[in-house]
Amino acid sequence: MKKLLIRTWGCQMNVYDSARMAEVLAPLGFAPTERAEEADMVILNTCHIREKATEKLFSELGRLRAVKEARAAAGQGMVLAVAGCVAQAEGEEIAARAPYVDIVFGPQTIHRLPEMVARASRAAGLVLETDFPEESKFDHLPEARAPQGVTAFLTVQEGCDKFCAFCVVPYTRGAETSRPAAAVLAEARALVAAGAREIALLGQNVNAYHGEGAGSLARLIAMLAEIPGLARIRYTTSHPRDMSDDLIAAHRDIPQLMPVLHLPVQSGSDRVLAAMNRGHSAADYLRLVEKLRAARPDIAITSDFIVGHPGEEEADHEATLRLVREVGFAGAYSFKYSPRPGTPAARLPRQVPEEVKEARLAELQALLSAQQLAFNRARIGQSFPVLVTGPGRHPGQIAGRSPWLQAVHARADAPPGAILTMTAIAATANSLTCILQDASTRPPERDAA
Ligand code: SAH
Ligand code: SF4
Ligand code: F3S
Repeated sequence: MKKLLIRTWGCQMNVYDSARMAEVLAPLGFAPTERAEEADMVILNTCHIREKATEKLFSELGRLRAVKEARAAAGQGMVLAVAGCVAQAEGEEIAARAPYVDIVFGPQTIHRLPEMVARASRAAGLVLETDFPEESKFDHLPEARAPQGVTAFLTVQEGCDKFCAFCVVPYTRGAETSRPAAAVLAEARALVAAGAREIALLGQNVNAYHGEGAGSLARLIAMLAEIPGLARIRYTTSHPRDMSDDLIAAHRDIPQLMPVLHLPVQSGSDRVLAAMNRGHSAADYLRLVEKLRAARPDIAITSDFIVGHPGEEEADHEATLRLVREVGFAGAYSFKYSPRPGTPAARLPRQVPEEVKEARLAELQALLSAQQLAFNRARIGQSFPVLVTGPGRHPGQIAGRSPWLQAVHARADAPPGAILTMTAIAATANSLTCILQDASTRPPERDAA
C-alpha cells in the first residue's frame, strides 16, 4: 500500500475536493496517512483568498522539501503536489520558487490526478494542469463515495461571475456552473448510504444554483428532502442578490432544511458596498433578514465582513457596526481587507492603513463575539433535536450538533447519526452543554461541561 497525505486550507469546497482526490487515488493503491515522513504522495490543497494563505504554503513547502530529500536519501520517493486556488492563480510562481514540486493543478482538474501521477513518475519536471477544461470534473469522478461521517459536503455549484472588487474566486474557480439535479441526487444517496445524515450543499454562490432538472436551489432542496435517511440539509455560501423568495419559503416549508443561513454582507455602508461591486445596499440586506425571519423566526443568520476595504472611512465603519446591531448575528467571520493581485480593489487609491484596519477589526469582532454568545445563551432552557456526530471528550459523553449548527456536549450514550431530543443547560461562545430531555427534571450534572 502507498501512503497519501492531503493537507487542506480554505473553504469547504476545498474540503470536498480533498475528499474526492482521495477517492480518485484510492484505486491506485493510495491509503491515507497523517505523517509526511511515510507519505509516497503529498497534496497541499491551497486557498488564495487572503495573503497569509500563500505564505503558509511556501513555508509548508520548505518543510516538505526536507522530508522529500530525507526520503530520497533512504531510497524512497515522494510525489509532491500543490492543488487548489493558489495553484490555479500562481502556478508559475510555485514552479519558480519551489522547483522540487512535481505537480501543480487547479480545482477544476482533480479528476485528471491519476494521469498526472503517472506522468510525474515517468519523467522528471513539473506537471502543470491549470487550464479550465471543457469537461466537468464531476462527470469523471467515481460515483461511489467513501464514508465522510455523519455530516458530509456535496458541491452542487462552482465558480463565480459576480466579480466583487476584492475577490480572487472568479479567477481561481472559473465561471459559475451548476451540476444537474440527477447527479446531485445520486451523490446524495451515495453519501447517505455511506452513513451521512446531514448534507451541506456547497457552492461559491450556492443560491445561484440553476442546475438542469431542478432549476433552482429551493427545488433541488425539495428533491433532496425526499431521500429517506437524510435528516438535515443546509447550504453555503449564499449571495444576498440570489436570495429568492422560493428559497426563503423553503426555510418555512421543508422540515429537513436547517434554520441556518450564511449570508455574507461584507459591509454596512452603501458607499463601500458599491465600491465592492456587491450589487445590493444595506437596506436590501436588512429587508432580506426581515423576510427570512418572517418565514422562519428562529433562523440563525451568520455573515462575513471585510474591514478596511479601499476608501472605507470611519463613517462607513460605523454603518457596518449599525447594521450588525440591527441584525443580531448568530456568528460571523471578519477579516482585514487583503489586496489580492489582479483584482480591481488592489489598484484602488486610498488603501486603508494597517493599524486602522486592526482597530476596526477589533471593534467589529468584539461586537460579533458578544452577539454569538448571546445567541448561544438564548438556547438555555430550550429543547431541540441534537444530531450525534461522535463520542465526546470524556467517556459517557457525546459530541453533537444543534439545528443551528452549534456544537453540543452532553452526557448520553448513542451512536453517531442518532438524533436525540435534548435541553440546553449552559452555553459558551462556541458550544452548548445539553442534557437528555427526559433527564431534564433531574438537577443538571455539573461535570458534563
Ligand atoms: N462567495 C462568498 C465568499 C467567498 S470568500 C460570498 O460572496 O460572500 C469568503 C470570504 O472571504 C468573503 O465573504 C470575504 O469576507 C472574505 N474575503 C474575500 N476576499 C477577501 C480579501 N481580498 N480580503 C479580505 N477578505 C476577503
Ligand atoms: Fe468572491 Fe464576490 Fe464571488 Fe463571493 S460573490 S466568490 S465574494 S466575487
Ligand atoms: Fe480559498 Fe479558493 Fe475557497 S481561494 S476560499 S479555497 S474558493
